Amino acid sequence: MTAVRSDTTPKQAPETTDPPTGFPTGFVWGAATAAYQVEGAAAEDGRTPSIWDTFSRTPGKVRNGDTGDIAADHYHRYRGDVALMKQLGLKAYRFSVSWSRVQPTGRGPAVERGLDFYRRLVDELLEAGIAPVATLYHWDLPQELEDAGGWPARATADRFTDYAAIMAGALGDRVGMWTTLNEPWCSAFLGYGSGVHAPGRTEPGATLRAAHHLNLAHGRAVEVLRGQLPAAAQVSVTLNLHQVRPLTGSEADADAARRIDGVGNRIFTGPILNGAYPEDLIADTSRLVDWSELVHDGDLTTISRPVDVLGVNYYTPTLVSAPVSGAGDTRDDGHGNSDHSPWTGSEHVAFHLAEGKKRTAMNWAIDPDGLYSLLMDVTRDHPGLPLMVTENGAAFDDYVSPEGRVADPERIDYLHGHLAAVQRAVADGADVRGYFLWSLMDNFEWGYGYSKRFGAVYVDYASQRRIPKASAHWYADVIRRHALPPATDAG
Ligand code: FCB
Repeated sequence: MTAVRSDTTPKQAPETTDPPTGFPTGFVWGAATAAYQVEGAAAEDGRTPSIWDTFSRTPGKVRNGDTGDIAADHYHRYRGDVALMKQLGLKAYRFSVSWSRVQPTGRGPAVERGLDFYRRLVDELLEAGIAPVATLYHWDLPQELEDAGGWPARATADRFTDYAAIMAGALGDRVGMWTTLNEPWCSAFLGYGSGVHAPGRTEPGATLRAAHHLNLAHGRAVEVLRGQLPAAAQVSVTLNLHQVRPLTGSEADADAARRIDGVGNRIFTGPILNGAYPEDLIADTSRLVDWSELVHDGDLTTISRPVDVLGVNYYTPTLVSAPVSGAGDTRDDGHGNSDHSPWTGSEHVAFHLAEGKKRTAMNWAIDPDGLYSLLMDVTRDHPGLPLMVTENGAAFDDYVSPEGRVADPERIDYLHGHLAAVQRAVADGADVRGYFLWSLMDNFEWGYGYSKRFGAVYVDYASQRRIPKASAHWYADVIRRHALPPATDAG
């Protein structure tokens, strides 16, 4: 087992930018996956069901009845996958740990066989010169903890603290970058609000309780990681900050945008980065939850422990207005259909699809300016905060040609546009340290099952053959140049 630390993780603010097409020195080029979406081996080596195993087995919850039982079989094929990453020249790989693989009941001692998988994966990455970026939680709560109340129960944050300590002990000598949670908004608001994600509950009060306990779990994990990891380790959280835009300049639309920004973004950035829940959010939601009972003394100090980097995931902007009869649809917000709104406390808002924009297979508008604005907004609100784009990418209806190739010019265009937006934000003062393409390879896209392909690498699920798409070759070229190729090469 090699206990070497890769030195590809950035420790310092990048200093130079080479206009017009270069990226800062030390800018990290990566790709991301998540445990339940790629690993498979759902019942091997002691792993027990997570809420996603249960949810995907519940009829009608996931398209085609797909499950993550086998997924991309990354658990068995990680060596080949790391070799592929190396071929593509990736400098970092963002993966997540399956909690119920390492702590099957969500409490108590760890299962060494489960930990060994991550030790082997990390060693393989380090040997290939690829920096491992470990996310502790990408939505797969051990089912036993959901049965005990799930994220709406404060005790789940205690369990997460123990789990974080186990992981720091197992991988702390060789993983230099850690992320506590991936997109806690989805865990809370899609999991307990609209119910389109596991565990599929639709309880407004529980949604807000879940959000607070996720924040608390994050803060506690930061404390644990800082206590156990070497000083140079970077600790972060990844948020899917919604780039909320009002449809018109009207006051009513501005208020709709404020409310969605509240339950979509500031419910996390407020306590994590500013040490307080925003007053307007509390006012908007206090009929659903008693915040003074929910937030204990000391919670906000814990939650606001400084992070080294903020991870941001971006796919498409969120266009909102006050409800308008005949226009907009309160449910068509890009997060799946449900009779229950995920926007707990801000239900009376209409969501719109931007006109005149190309769309991905998710029907999400393609809008690189949204990424630029997002990076600039965070920089304006939190000057000097280092940022990392931890997910960005697109699903398209990819297929293998008779010659065995996958041409995906739309994805190349998408990536080119968004990387150019990152570059523009860097030139305008945002401290963006890296970019992780979602996803390394096709995988289980939650409620959409295997019907949506986000990978730079095509996965033929029947044979588990990997075929790098044209976009993977394009991305490899970007990494080699440390710059975007001329736009004419893009498509
Ligand atoms: C993000 C998730 C990721 C993937 C992409 C498309 O919200 O973090 O797992 O599903 O969307």
